[in-house]
Amino acid sequence: MSERAEEDTVSYEIENRIAWVKFNRPEKRNCMSPKLNRQMLRVLDKLEYDDTVGVLVLTGEGTAWSAGMDLKEYFRETEAQGLAGTRGAQREAYTWWKRLRWFQKPTIAMVNGWCFGGGYGPLYACDLAYAAEDAQFGLSEVNWGILPGGGATKVAFELMPFRKAMYHAMLGENLTGAQAAEEGLVNEALPADKLKARVTEVATKLLEKNPWTLKATKDAMRRVGEMTYENAEDYLIRAQEALNFFDGEARKEGMKQFLDDKTYKPGLGSYDTSKQKS
Ligand code: COA
Repeated sequence: MSERAEEDTVSYEIENRIAWVKFNRPEKRNCMSPKLNRQMLRVLDKLEYDDTVGVLVLTGEGTAWSAGMDLKEYFRETEAQGLAGTRGAQREAYTWWKRLRWFQKPTIAMVNGWCFGGGYGPLYACDLAYAAEDAQFGLSEVNWGILPGGGATKVAFELMPFRKAMYHAMLGENLTGAQAAEEGLVNEALPADKLKARVTEVATKLLEKNPWTLKATKDAMRRVGEMTYENAEDYLIRAQEALNFFDGEARKEGMKQFLDDKTYKPGLGSYDTSKQKS
C-alpha cells in the first residue's frame, strides 16, 4: 500500500466507556515511526479528559502489538538529520509513553501479537497488561547491534526477576505470552480468542470503582518504588489528603454504606459509587 497518512497510524473507538486504542500500521507490524508517535500523543490528548472514557486499552491492529521502533523511519531517517533529528524523534516517543504512564484513567495493554524492544515503553506505561498466549515478547536489540534503549532495559529490570531480565536482554530470545506472564511482563496470558473478553471484564470492574481513587492508587504504586519506607508512608498520607480535597465524600460514602447501610463489604467488593455526592 502507499504510505499511510499520519492520522491513520493510530485508530480508536469508544464503547461502553472503554477507549480501544490501536497501533494501526499492521503492514509494518505496528512499529513506531515518528508519525505514529505524534499521532498517538494527539489521541491520548483527546481521550484523557473525555468524560465518555473511563478506561483506555492499548492494542494493535493485525498480527502485532508493536514491533518496537521503526528501524527505517525512527532510527535511520532521523539519524540522517543529525543529533537534532535523533533527539527530536526520541522526544516524540518518550513524551507519549510518559503521558500514558501518568494517564488520568486506568490503562490496560492488550498484547495481541509481536511486542519488541521499544514496545516495552508503552507496555510498562499501561497499568495492567494481558497477552495472548501465543504473543511473542522480545528484547531483539542485541540481535541487530544496539542495547535495549528507550527505557526497555529499565522496564525488564522493573518487571522481571533479575536473572530472567539479564538473560532476556543478552540472548535476544523471545518469550511467549504465557512465559511473559510467568516472568512478570504481563498480568495474565489467555488464548487469543478469550483475550478481549477478559480485558473487557477487567476494564468493566475498573469502571465501577471511584476514578479519583484509582488515579491516586496507580500513581502511588509507581512512585513508592524509589522511596524509603518512611518517605513512602509520608507520601501516601499526603496523597490521601490531596485526594480528600478533590473527592472528599468518597471515604465517607464508602464507610456509610458499610457501617450504616450494610449494603456491601469492602473486603468483598466496591461500594456503590453512583450514590456518592460529588
Ligand atoms: N522497523 C521497521 N520496519 C519493520 C519493523 C521495524 N521494527 N518491523 C517490521 N517492519 C516491516 C518489515 O520491514 C516489513 O516491511 P516491508 O513489507 O516493506 O518489507 C513489514 O514490516 C512486515 O514485516 P515482516 O518482517 O515481513 O513481518 P513478519 O510477520 O514476517 O515478522 C517480525 C514480524 C516482528 C518478527 C519482524 O518484522 C521483525 O523482526 N521486526 C523487527 C523487530 C525488532 O527488532 N524491533 C525492535 C526495534 S527496537
